[in-house]
This record gives sequence, C-alpha cells and structure tokens, in this order.
Amino acid sequence: MPLAIGIHDLSFATGEFVLPHTALAAHNGTEIGKYHAGIGQESMSVPAADEDIVTLAATAAAPIVARHGSDRIRTVVLATESSIDQAKSAGVYVHSLLGLPSATRVVELKQACYGATAGLQFAIGLVQRDPAQQVLVIASDVSKYDLDSPGEATQGAAAVAMLVGADPGLVRIEDPSGLFTVDVMDFWRPNYRTTALVDGQESIGAYLQAVEGAWKDYSERGGHSLEQFAAFCYHQPFTKMAHKAHRHLLNYCSHDIHHDDVTRAVGRTTAYNRVIGNSYTASVYLGLAALLDQADDLTGERIGFLSYGSGSVAEFFGGIVVAGYRDRLRTAANIEAVSRRRPIDYAGYRELHEWAFPADGGDHSTPQQTTGPFRLSGISGHKRLYRAC
Ligand code: HMG
Repeated sequence: MPLAIGIHDLSFATGEFVLPHTALAAHNGTEIGKYHAGIGQESMSVPAADEDIVTLAATAAAPIVARHGSDRIRTVVLATESSIDQAKSAGVYVHSLLGLPSATRVVELKQACYGATAGLQFAIGLVQRDPAQQVLVIASDVSKYDLDSPGEATQGAAAVAMLVGADPGLVRIEDPSGLFTVDVMDFWRPNYRTTALVDGQESIGAYLQAVEGAWKDYSERGGHSLEQFAAFCYHQPFTKMAHKAHRHLLNYCSHDIHHDDVTRAVGRTTAYNRVIGNSYTASVYLGLAALLDQADDLTGERIGFLSYGSGSVAEFFGGIVVAGYRDRLRTAANIEAVSRRRPIDYAGYRELHEWAFPADGGDHSTPQQTTGPFRLSGISGHKRLYRAC
C-alpha cells in the first residue's frame, strides 16, 4: 500500500489592519455592489509598516512548531511572489525567528500564486524518500496594486503554514496531478516595481484556460470524475473567481450548470478570502481552511484543488479528508486572526500603501504598529532587522 502523505496541520496569519470595501468605494465612487457581489470581496487585510512576508510567515508557522515541536522538520519551503530579497530566502529569517534546528534545509520558491503548491508537491517527494521527516511549507504574500487601479480592490495579505508529513492529520494528497504551463503576460511584477502589473480581463481568460488545461491532463492521467469531489478549493484572487472557474470547468466537462451546483462546490471555501483579499500563494489554502472550518463532517470526502499562478502555471489534484481531522482544526484561532484586525480608514491605508524604507540602506526604524508576535523593527546597513515581540 502506498504511503499516505499530506497536510498534517495548517495555520494562518493575516495583517494588522483591515480596510472595508465600503471605504474604498466611498473614495473612488464605485457602486458597492460591484465589490460585494461583482467580485465577491468585503474587505482587505493591510499589513502594518512593521509587518511583511517574514513576520506573517513566522506568525502563521509558530503555532505549528508549538504543537508538534521541530525535531522532525528537516526542510522549510517558503513560497512567495512578494519577496523581500533577491538572494536570501525569506525562509531563513523565519527559521531564525522560530528557533528551528540548524540541521534544516531552507529555500524560497516563486511562480506567482502557484508557488506553494509546488512546495507542497516537493514536500511530498521528500517525505516519500524519508517518511520520518516533516516539511514546513509556508505560503506568504502581500498583494499590492497601484492606487486607483482596477486591481486595487483585490489586494490582501496572509500567510498559511502547513506541516507536510506521513500519516497526515488533515488531508491525504492523492496522485495524479494535472499540470498546465503556458507563457502568458497576464500579471507580472518586474524587479524594479513594488506593485504588480496586470491585464485584468486577460488574466481571467488565462486562469480559465489553465483550469481547462490542468483538468484535461488530470483526466488523461486517470484522475477522478467531477462527481467524486465533495468540494473544490480554487485559487481566489477574488472570491467570484472561484465561481467563474468552477462554472467554466462544468461547462468544459459538458455538465448542465445549475447555480446551486457551483455554490455547493465552492461556496464553503470563500469565507476567509472574502474578508482578507488576494493572498497570492496562500489563497488556495485559505480556501481549504475555510472549508474544513465551516463544512459539516467531511471525513473520507475528496476535495479538488486548483492552484493557479499567473504567467502561467496551474495544477489540479485531489485530497481525501482523514478521520479525526476535526480535533486538529484551529477554527477559533483562524476566526481570531481575522476578527482581531484593527479597522483602518482610507487615509491610513493610503499612507501604508506608500510606506517604504528609504533606498539609502541607512539606519531606519519602523513605527511600532503590529500587535502580532513578530515585527520588522527596521533596517540598518541594508539589513532587515526582525524580532519577536
Ligand atoms: P474591473 O474592470 O474593475 O471590473 O476589473 P468589471 O467591470 O470586470 O466588473 C467586475 C464584476 O463586477 C463583473 O462581473 C461586473 O458585471 C460586476 P462579471 O461580469 O465578471 O461576472 N459588477 C457589478 N455587480 C453588482 N453590482 C454592481 C456591479 N458593477 C459591476 N453595481 C478585475 C475586475 C478582476 C479584472 C480587476 O479587479 C483586476 O484587474 N484584478 C487583478 C487581476 C485579477 O485578480 N485577475 C484574476 C485572474 S489572474 C489570477 O488569479 C492570478 C493572480 O492572483 C496573480 C498571481 O498569480 O500571482 C492575480
């Protein structure tokens, strides 16, 4: 019998502040229905000046290390597309903040929002080779578009940490995977920019093309049929995209499309993404957290995952929810991570959007804003300074 490998534990963190879409709509004159119903977003997480992908990642992963210890963690994979250094992995800072053993390999992965799924699959390979080891896979991103651009309403920030190992406590990941890659310029961020560039409508088309491509490969490799899935976790740049994607998949598979079918398949995966916004690499796994936290008992059920990263790479795969998973959920902490955020007004959000260290690399400290367990306290000699609070 093949070894059962998958997600043993999952924990997430998000930014210090929250901007409701009503505040953005009041600023730019948009009818609020476009945000609430049209794209399916209610609010966005906004990181404090002393938060970034490292502090979010460490905050997400700390409860996992506290629960399981670090003795078996041999690898840390940090996936992000909002990297803070061109050379050093953000994971090395996280490794230090969490006090992980030096006998660990740490690496950063990038392919837009898809990176964490690559991390998950690579982790499964490592565990297959050495079933005693566990891999800490962290997805951490801050999504930032230009002010007053169409993408602005889809911004967000979060990190999801997953412990991957044999005999998993939450979801056993199945073979096969369906894969799809095509060179497309739908969304990108050149090294000299802090905000992403996007062709919005093209990006939606590219996403839907990738859904088709990944599903086609999945089916050709002997994957399960649509009816064998209880729910689908899609990458959610905005929650309506999950509905669009599933409708597209049903259509591609020549299914009659009923509104209820789409809602049943994806509706339970959107609660966290709807109030957090796009968290890029973390988004599809926030969908999993929402589903496990909110659905009735899913023991033994198959969940479909569609991970998409612009540019573009997509992967479709299935996972089986394992017995006893409910005892391992972090539902109260997850709800707290969202509800503890402090509301910010439009002017405060704009100030944070434009906040950056001067490029002189001199000594600069950050304002003390976060109430989280880790902070970016400043920069000195071009070196970022982190500390536990
Ligand atoms: P837009 O032009 O501002 O909006 O851009 P729109 O005119 O397309 O309207 C959006 C929806 O709201 C439409 O619904 C409207 O009908 C509806 P749809 O026709 O699509 O079903 N609407 C209303 N509904 C109710 N009441 C109203 C109302 N008014 C309009 N009053 C867009 C929207 C998503 C393009 C923009 O926000 C954007 O550019 N976002 C960034 C790009 C993005 O999220 N792309 C998604 C696919 S690519 C991806 O997922 C990868 C990504 O995560 C990056 C990565 O991989 O790293 C982005």
